[in-house]
Amino acid sequence: MKLGVVGLGYAGLCTAACFARKFEVIGIDVDRGRVSQLNRGEVPIHEEGLPSLLKSGITGRTLSFTTDYDSLLGTDIVFIAVGTPSKSDGAIDLSQVTTASALIGRQIARSKKTRLIVIKSTVTPGTATTVVKPLLEKEAGKSCGDGFGLCSNPEFLREGAAIEDTLRPDRVVIGPFDERSGRAIKSFYRRFYGPRSPKMVETTPENAELIKYASNTFLATKISFVNFIARICETLPGADVGDVAFGMGLDPRIGRQYLEAGPGFGGACFPKDSRALGAFTLQRGLDGSLLRSVLEINDTQPDWIVSSVEKALGSIRGKDVAILGVAFKEESDDVRESRAIVLAKRLISKGAQVRITDPKAMEGARRELGKGAEYYDDPRDCIRGADAAIVMVAWEKFKKLKPGDFVRLMRTPVLFDARRIYDAAEYGLGALKFMAIGRGDLPKVRG
Ligand code: UGA
Repeated sequence: MKLGVVGLGYAGLCTAACFARKFEVIGIDVDRGRVSQLNRGEVPIHEEGLPSLLKSGITGRTLSFTTDYDSLLGTDIVFIAVGTPSKSDGAIDLSQVTTASALIGRQIARSKKTRLIVIKSTVTPGTATTVVKPLLEKEAGKSCGDGFGLCSNPEFLREGAAIEDTLRPDRVVIGPFDERSGRAIKSFYRRFYGPRSPKMVETTPENAELIKYASNTFLATKISFVNFIARICETLPGADVGDVAFGMGLDPRIGRQYLEAGPGFGGACFPKDSRALGAFTLQRGLDGSLLRSVLEINDTQPDWIVSSVEKALGSIRGKDVAILGVAFKEESDDVRESRAIVLAKRLISKGAQVRITDPKAMEGARRELGKGAEYYDDPRDCIRGADAAIVMVAWEKFKKLKPGDFVRLMRTPVLFDARRIYDAAEYGLGALKFMAIGRGDLPKVRG
């Protein structure tokens, strides 16, 4: 079986590399630079396990990359995994999806083979039916069902765990347009996963598209909810959001995951998808206030951190502030919509001198902040002489810093732990002024 994967961003590339363990895969992208980089075996993103999969795919000749859509001619299944970025009103920009659909349609027109087209890109409900299907039919000159198969199949992989999530997903959601497409995609996944096939949810294309948005925005809501509880905790001596979330999460109806209070959610998905579903509800005349609140809590979380640090320092102007971590989360070099970048910009606008350190995301930080910040490879150098330090990413490297390091190296030892990586009982003692998201002051006396 020969597969095509169109769009070699995060999801497309990781999916292509995983599929190449069992099938022959051709990855297509319009970005010539990225394609030649990949063909040279260079990995453009930091993702655990990806380099070895790419290497074995390329050397074993099951994986190749090109910009040429003609190479789709011999394929059996084509996965569309192009990006759907935000427009200024929050709705998604479908231009990459429409370009890819038109070009794939032209390939369908040229071939006698009945091919299956699978939409992995995150698209708002109805897009496959109202945009992709008509475009494919127009360009192919064939109708969906007889001339080609079509199926929605949203992607649920997480950056930093993309390979594991692709090889061992919780579920595979498929929304085929006809019975034959449904059979074909199920048989493909059964062949790929073998006897340990994940649960397959077969539904309409619209439901499949909505399952993706509902899942991401629900998780985003959980995070904003726990950050809202964290704010309450900070006003309440003796309260700690870690304990509250733990107690809540033991209820299986709530669950423990995605209840970690922090600087808010970033990355290429939760902010974009929350805005897109918000815009979609407005277009349909519905009240979008739930998602607006989720985004508002998230958008103001960096300000919340700035004001806590400001309170501790008196004023931010002219102060040296060290930001430990700029990736949108640990095990990633991605700074898209990273709360740490937003925080850095806020601090700079308030007249602070910002210093940055991150084990993997320094290139992204330099791209976003340029000469506005100073960059340090070693966290100890970053905090040396600083007036405040703010932990924005839970990197292992930062967990090794001890209270004594902050006290000894900093000009004024003020530490804000926005990822709650340090134990308050240890860091909250002595000369270090220690603050953490969602932690009220310890009560002076317990009666
Ligand atoms: C997310 C979803 O988890 C994936 O299922 C989905 O496929 C993906 O979006 C997508 O749509 O492509 P991802 O953005 O890679 O994955 O990362 P997550 O691990 O989900 O984290 C997102 C953000 O939430 C990060 O900034 C993280 O630090 C934050 N987060 C997560 C919290 O602040 N608290 C938590 O408890 C969990």
